[in-house]
Amino acid sequence: MNLVDKIENTFTLTTPLYYVNDVPHIGSAYTTMAADVVARSQRLLGHSVLLITGTDEHGQKIQRTAESKGRSPQSFCDEISAGFASLWELLNIQYDRFIRTTDDRHKAIVKEFFQRVWERGDIYLSQQQGWYCVSCEEFKEERELLEGHRCPIHTNKEVEWRDEQNYFFRLSKYQTQLQTLYKSQPDFIQPESRRNEVLNFVNQGLQDFSISRINLEWGLPLPVDPQHTIYVWFDALLGYVTALLEPEQEPTLENALAKWWPINLHLIGKDILRFHTVYWPAMLMSADIKLPLRVFVHGFLTKDGQKMGKSLGNTLNPVELIKCYGADAVRYYFLKEIEFGKDGDFNESRFINVLNADLANDLGNLLNRTLSMVKKYCAGNVPQIKNEDIPFEHPLKSIGFHLGEQVRNAYEALAFNQACEAVLLLVQASNKFIDEQAPWTLYKQGQHQAVEQVLYAVLESVRLAAYLLSPIIPNISSDIYQQLGFGIDFNDQIQTSISAPFATHGTWGVLSNQQKLGEPRPIFKRIELSKND
Ligand code: MSP
Repeated sequence: MNLVDKIENTFTLTTPLYYVNDVPHIGSAYTTMAADVVARSQRLLGHSVLLITGTDEHGQKIQRTAESKGRSPQSFCDEISAGFASLWELLNIQYDRFIRTTDDRHKAIVKEFFQRVWERGDIYLSQQQGWYCVSCEEFKEERELLEGHRCPIHTNKEVEWRDEQNYFFRLSKYQTQLQTLYKSQPDFIQPESRRNEVLNFVNQGLQDFSISRINLEWGLPLPVDPQHTIYVWFDALLGYVTALLEPEQEPTLENALAKWWPINLHLIGKDILRFHTVYWPAMLMSADIKLPLRVFVHGFLTKDGQKMGKSLGNTLNPVELIKCYGADAVRYYFLKEIEFGKDGDFNESRFINVLNADLANDLGNLLNRTLSMVKKYCAGNVPQIKNEDIPFEHPLKSIGFHLGEQVRNAYEALAFNQACEAVLLLVQASNKFIDEQAPWTLYKQGQHQAVEQVLYAVLESVRLAAYLLSPIIPNISSDIYQQLGFGIDFNDQIQTSISAPFATHGTWGVLSNQQKLGEPRPIFKRIELSKND
């Protein structure tokens, strides 16, 4: 069965399903923030979006962690999984589905999928020997290991020798089909550097991989041999499919795949590249299911140059960061300061400097000083200017006119930093424009028309900046919009997509003089560096 084409206008995206071996850290939050930004930008464009996130709860790593804490795996998973959901709330992530791989409905989906692959003749029993990293839940090649048989990703963990009977998936059978996929769909893996990495890996020849574990209780039983449990990755990737089910729907593949499949975008970190770009498409090929359209791979957040992670124990607590600085600040920093696709280091003074410079000074002051001048020089009304009367060569209109498209392209390319930088150029140009035009002098000279024109152009530029940044800083953007007299809350995404769609609000010249402006109030309070910094 090759399922129907993607229903037009729908956009489905996923974050990885996070392991619940520990509370979430900023690394997990990073992918989820990016996913939320993509979802919000797609909604502004009028698409019907399904954002999937969730938790990956089976496997040895979780079983051992729960045991070490004297807990049953299920109650441990319940607690940690809830912690992820509440972090997403704090971070203002509006996901549509939260899938837990311990959900009952997931069992039915995995069983049906397994059956299809089994009937295809792609699963067989054999002996598995090799080095296993429990933190990665992955076998490693001897040559990949660091000294002392340590994992290259979890550098403080030793891999374990395994010699056991496992069921294998015939990955090798799909080598040519995978190569054809990468060739015919060059955008399937992004960025380019990751694509090359996968091409090299696949070109070296693929080996079948084991998809069952023996003597591991915490997992789904293998339908054809219940002494085995299904390998956690085989189970987890299918979580993306289970998540597509409507709440009351019967859990069948056909139901799950009917509306939102294929997935438009999987967002992942670089450590889980092979699973998503080699194993996963091969599994889907075997089950005769259409493939996802794009996998985008981001880098690692590092602290002092080392991957931040639960297994290494050098994480940054996102809850504290949000409580201290607010969700928008955290979202802005990570998306503006780190090129999505590359590694990036976190440093608190840099964090504070960026927020002060961009949000408090450039954007915040611009709005505040302009609204105060409007109050003083235009009796608090939007200046009586029509967009049509402002020439295209106007220093702000000329930037603003193309900005929407530029930023939209940046969001589509997941170049969040470029989106922010392009918007900031307009904001900075606006500040410069006010300083040069000096409306306070024009006012004294009685040039009221000129004052109105300057203030209109600046207010409109702030509005556009707020709109275009709304997927990243929805609270601040809503605050700006409200001060400009729009009854729009960017967190009400459905309403926003109706009353402020990209097609009208994403261009320059929207502000109308019918608008009733609100009271100026600071949108982002400057953060003071403590004396010790
Ligand atoms: N459970 C698997 C994913 C299964 S998807 C069907 C898993 N979970 S994880 O919790 O270990 O990692 C989830 C995601 O977080 C991965 O994309 C990983 O790259 C990302 N990050 C974990 N630490 C990270 C950083 N320090 N920096 C950025 N992202 C990192 O893998």
